Amino acid sequence: MISIDPKNIPTKDLHQYLLGIVAPRPIAFASTVDENGTPNLAPYSFFNAFSSNPPIVVFSSNRRVSDNTTKDTLHNIEKTGEVVINAVSHSILRQMAVASVQFPKEISEFSKSGLTPVDSDLVKPPRVLESPASMECVMKEIITLGKHGGAGHLIICEVVRIHIDERVVDGNRINPHKIDLMGRMGRAYYVRASGDAIHTVVQSVLDISIGFDQLPQEVQKSTVLTGNDLGLLAGLTQWPNKEEIEAQLSPEERLQIASLTEDRALPQLHYMAKNAIREGLIKKAASILAFQENFSK
Ligand SMILES: Cc1cc2nc3c(=O)[nH]c(=O)nc-3n(C[C@H](O)[C@H](O)[C@H](O)COP(=O)(O)O)c2cc1C
Repeated sequence: MISIDPKNIPTKDLHQYLLGIVAPRPIAFASTVDENGTPNLAPYSFFNAFSSNPPIVVFSSNRRVSDNTTKDTLHNIEKTGEVVINAVSHSILRQMAVASVQFPKEISEFSKSGLTPVDSDLVKPPRVLESPASMECVMKEIITLGKHGGAGHLIICEVVRIHIDERVVDGNRINPHKIDLMGRMGRAYYVRASGDAIHTVVQSVLDISIGFDQLPQEVQKSTVLTGNDLGLLAGLTQWPNKEEIEAQLSPEERLQIASLTEDRALPQLHYMAKNAIREGLIKKAASILAFQENFSK
């Protein structure tokens, strides 16, 4: 393990460690206007949603590590109190990258990136037409975290209007494959949050699950089943009893398991359970593992 004292490494290295650990991060593509109405657009990945009622999102505009200067987005919000946060989908990734360039203040990143400004309903900054979702926001508070290079300014915003491209919505829920968002990792790395990158994890928080400590000792210590396999078993609400095992396993499967149990062929049994887990048959996997304690003579 590498252990780091944040006070004893250069800020640029600390910054990269933080970005590598706190990842992937959603990207707030922030549209603002200055006091003359000139639009500004820039990506900010120190960003998240923190409250649904009221709807609060926060992002951080940091002092540049190189020269300790602050950024146009921050200046504009300090002056106008408004921002539109646009989502970044894969289809606008490279245009977003162009908008991150440090253009002079009077230059609009909309023109430079080729993205289209569309009038907002309630705030002055325009939203990005090509973005799959945009949130019109009013700034509630700015919290300054320091005065040296790398210090953040938390920009706390209340969402006052949301726009979503109907093509990314199924019913009244956003389909992650359709919205196809990008996440920021450390350095120049991004992640595309669709396709194989999306994992479905269903775990009720209300139904009390049995937990890892209630799994049989030989299952907990398995050299075949991984932490994720055990997590799936620990997420069950009940360890199988005789009836459940009979419902889950065919007579042939029971015969096969009985002979493996008799031969004390624990790894093979665990492989059989692992295969069931791979097929998504968690109760069946648990039944294979619970067979011995229920059926041994
Ligand atoms: C994907 C991405 C995420 C970024 N996230 C942040 C961030 O969270 N905070 C920050 O201060 N700068 C961040 N930056 C850098 C700013 O976008 C960059 O400094 C930009 O020039 C600021 O523009 P502005 O001066 O128009 O606000 C990020 C850049 C990229 C490409």
